[in-house]
Parts: sequence; C-alpha cells; structure tokens
Amino acid sequence: MESAAKRNSMQSLLEDEVKKSRMPARLDLAQSLSGLALGIFMWTHLLLVSSILLGNDAMYFVSKMMEAEFLTGTGHGYPVIVVCVAATVFTLFISHAGLAMRKFPASWRQAKVFRSHMAMMVHPDTSYWWSQVASGFLMFFLGSVHIYVMMTHPAQIGPYESADRVWSGWMWPLYLILLFCVEVHAAIGMYRLAVKWGVFDGADPRANRRRLQKIRTGITVFFLTLGLASLAAYIKIGIGHADHVGEAYVPAHHSN
Ligand code: HEM
Repeated sequence: MESAAKRNSMQSLLEDEVKKSRMPARLDLAQSLSGLALGIFMWTHLLLVSSILLGNDAMYFVSKMMEAEFLTGTGHGYPVIVVCVAATVFTLFISHAGLAMRKFPASWRQAKVFRSHMAMMVHPDTSYWWSQVASGFLMFFLGSVHIYVMMTHPAQIGPYESADRVWSGWMWPLYLILLFCVEVHAAIGMYRLAVKWGVFDGADPRANRRRLQKIRTGITVFFLTLGLASLAAYIKIGIGHADHVGEAYVPAHHSN
C-alpha cells in the first residue's frame, strides 16, 4: 500500500518534470521570434534613416510618412504613431534582453571558462556567442537611451531636427557605438536563427553554412557602410545648422 503511494508520488514528480522541461524550449522560441522581429525592424529602420543620403526632402518625406501626415495634409501628422511603434519596439527589446540574460555567464569564473574554451576551439559559431553577449550588453544602455528619446520626442524627427540631435545634442558618439553593436548583433543573430532552425540547410548543410557566413559578412559590411555614411550626413547638416538649433526643416514647396 505504502509503496503504491510512493510510486504514485514519484510518477507525479516525473510528470511535473516533463511539463517543466517544455519551458526552456518555449523561451528559446520566444527569444528567436523576438530576435527575428527586432532584426527586421533594425534593417528597415536603417534604410529609412539613410534616406538623408538622398537629401533633406527625402528624409522629410520619410519622417512625415511615418506620422501619416498624408491624412492631415497640414505638415503635421500623428506623432503618436511613432510613440506606439517605439513603445512596441521597447517592449520587444526588453523582453529579448530578459530572455537572453538566461544564458549570460553567471559569474566571472563561468565567463573565464567560456573564454578559454573559445580560445581553444577557434570555432566561429562559438566566438559569435561571445560577440552577442558583449554587443547585447552594451545595447541594454545605449539602445534604451535612444528609444526613450524617440518615444518622448516623436515630433522632432526630420532632417534638421535629427541632425541637431546628432550634432548639437551630442548623440553622435552614442550612435557610433550603437551602430556597430546593432549591425554586428543583428547579422549574427539572423545567421544563428537560420542555423538553429535549419532554414537553409538544404542537401549540404556544411556548404550552406559557409555560404550563410559569407552573406552575414556582406550584410554587416553593407549596413555598417550605410549607417556610417548616414551618420556623417547628419553630422555635416548638424554642423551647418548649429546656429539655428531647434528650427524645424521646412521643404521648399511648403515655404512657397
Ligand atoms: C521606434 C523606435 C525607433 C525610432 C523611431 C528610431 C528613429 C531613429 C532616427 C530618426 C534616427 C536618426 C537620428 C535621430 O533622429 O536622432 C535614428 C538613428 C539611429 N537609431 Fe534609431 N529609432 C528607433 C529604434 C532604434 C533601436 C531599437 C535601435 C537599436 C537598438 C536604434 C539604433 C539607431 C542607430 C544606431 C542610429 C544611428 C544611425 C546611423 O548611424 O546612421 N534605433 N533612429
């Protein structure tokens, strides 16, 4: 009698264990999905930010489209749209960072052990993990500052407004470091997603993994170049506009 009760309680303990063991997989999936959404956002975001390379009017057009200015036609749309997008991105960003923290080294000793394994193995995918930890950690701080500013100043996005923030508002050093962190992190993250879920494994996973690594390098170089060129453009405009900080850009067809 007693042993039957013992067996039952052992069984329910085992069942509990089986139920619990699904959680890491669910958290992994949540981390992958939030990472995918953030990666797509980051690449789209940089393409939009780089509209400054096509001129002030192009960047003005993009910023007004984001506010849905075409619905009012008054030169002012609904900056609350930017607030909502920024709040959604911030929530995703915090959730993704929280999920990633599960796998951060928990002590100096663990970090040291990992680093010595990494040095011994000289295996790119193992080293990528360390880059993700380092760039992700920096983004906790730098990314939060930027998203918070965007959320609280949604109407101050435009060629002069952004350039003033970059140059006169001293955001350029933050953007410079953030840009490297974001582009390295996003490209490695997308590559790891493809490898982890076997998206492009095909008939020869090894050869395809090498191909994916080349694509990853290409994408990183492309977005870093685009980001640096855009940052340089904002700095140049910001220097020229330093005596008129706070004045919004008005395109020629509006002033006429
Ligand atoms: C909805 C949220 C976001 C909005 C509305 C937004 C908007 C902008 C805008 C307008 C700029 C141009 C400079 C300025 O106006 O200050 C910019 C630059 C930048 N943003 Fe964001 N951003 C958002 C989220 C993020 C996130 C989540 C990251 C990364 C964690 C990020 C990284 C950057 C970087 C690195 C730059 C500099 C780009 C360059 O060097 O060319 N942004 N962003």
